Amino acid sequence: MFRQASWNEQVIFNLGRKGRRGHLLSEVEEEVKQAVGDAEALIPKNMRRKSAPDLPELSEVEVIRHFIRLSEMNYGVDSGFYPLGSCTMKYNPKINEFLTHSPKLEMLHPYQDETTVQGILEALYKLERWLAELTGMHEVCLQPAAGAHGEFLGTILMRDYFKASGEQARRTEIIVPDSAHGTNPASAAMAGFNVVVVPSDDSGCVNLGALKAAVSERTAGLMLTNPNTLGVFENNIDEIARIIHDAGGLLYYDGANLNPLLCKARPGDMGFDIVHINVHKTFSTPHGGGGPGAGPVGVSDKLAKFLPVPRIVFDGKMYRLDYERPHSIGKIRGFYGNVAVLLRAYAYILSLGVEGLTEVAEVSVLNANYLMRKLEKVKGLTLPYDGDQPRKHECVFSAKPLKSETGVAAVDIAKRLLDYGVHAPTMYFPLIVEEALMIEPTETAEKEEIDRFVDSLRMVCEEARSNPKIVTGAPHNTAVTRLDEVKASHPKTMALSWKMHQKKRQERESG
Ligand SMILES: Cc1ncc(COP(=O)(O)O)c(C=O)c1O
Repeated sequence: MFRQASWNEQVIFNLGRKGRRGHLLSEVEEEVKQAVGDAEALIPKNMRRKSAPDLPELSEVEVIRHFIRLSEMNYGVDSGFYPLGSCTMKYNPKINEFLTHSPKLEMLHPYQDETTVQGILEALYKLERWLAELTGMHEVCLQPAAGAHGEFLGTILMRDYFKASGEQARRTEIIVPDSAHGTNPASAAMAGFNVVVVPSDDSGCVNLGALKAAVSERTAGLMLTNPNTLGVFENNIDEIARIIHDAGGLLYYDGANLNPLLCKARPGDMGFDIVHINVHKTFSTPHGGGGPGAGPVGVSDKLAKFLPVPRIVFDGKMYRLDYERPHSIGKIRGFYGNVAVLLRAYAYILSLGVEGLTEVAEVSVLNANYLMRKLEKVKGLTLPYDGDQPRKHECVFSAKPLKSETGVAAVDIAKRLLDYGVHAPTMYFPLIVEEALMIEPTETAEKEEIDRFVDSLRMVCEEARSNPKIVTGAPHNTAVTRLDEVKASHPKTMALSWKMHQKKRQERESG
């Protein structure tokens, strides 16, 4: 059994003592003083602080121990198995960290002149070309900061494409399957489209009859994940692309999880016009806690002129940032995106090469299917939709039979798994599976790790019958037990910082 440290750790603002220091900076040399002059005068008067900031004052050892203790109450991909379906949390090879922590890269500033940042522009330019090649797209923009941000860019591109063709007033609808990730309809709505949902068929794929009925002259496009969120490959993708294109719509590919397709199949070859990729899933950098990430967007030839500025261009000698794009939608993010994450992706791609990326795809599919076939034998779980059909990188089980038999729900299983030292799978998604447990072992899991996970899940299902309370009351061995999810996310009670927490507490106390 797993046992997590449970420190009664204070926030850093409550630690230390006034005047205590970690490091003392040396006195500035006379020569420097003279060269710089009155440094304070360089800051405009109205921007100068009137008093010193109220920062914690601690010794180095206090700081280190504080953060180590916090880390001991955390669980991450470096701690153990993390089978979070759709949100792919795979091991990030440390060579990527090593390369991106090079001072040569870390000390660069986005305001530097292009001529002094040729190296980084070259790396980003080449990453764009790699991603374009891997997705079968014409051009790629690296700017979006996450998958959902990429989707937002994609739907804005759709809007501007139809604006340019004079069809914007008519093409008001974006179609999404009922298995879609929630960000798809949200992005479509944010870009001003109406969302039309089509149901899945018995195999978990888009119901072609329903799609044909949903398509009309109002259709701007279809947003699709392939393999879909059940892990099933949409075998009718050629037909789907034909239906959408015949109606004059565009095909959007949610490539959040591209690992099973790498060097095997490309969205561009399937007929997709726009693709976003979550590099923080497919190309290392696990995105714990909601960030950091990057959601590059690739587009076909006809949409390239609408991409955000600046574009990185190469004239054979120099890399430049090109702002002269009259059809561009403008800017989607400051500077050139989340460069540190993009560099990790570039390092990951270069260190694996085509051979390694092909293996990524093969092992991600092999692991998911191995796990799926073993889990099928666990009493209380079922594999909804076509069980004969192999899955790609993930599989979705339903704990409905176990719930009917014992009252123990998917959420309880997920919480009890924490006591076994593994992170919980994704729960209750996709929405079309009742009591869903969405599991992705990823290509970085060892066979023994997968076996251990299956054994843990089997034991939890057995506990549900023999001692259900131990499961419904879980977790027992973690630093914190079940959190009040409503309070944690409700604007009235949610606190994103210590200061916010203090303010809200004071407000509550004063009625
Ligand atoms: C299928 C799918 N699409 C889109 C997203 C959104 O990506 P992000 O979390 O980077 O915004 C996710 C993330 O979980 C996803 O799994």
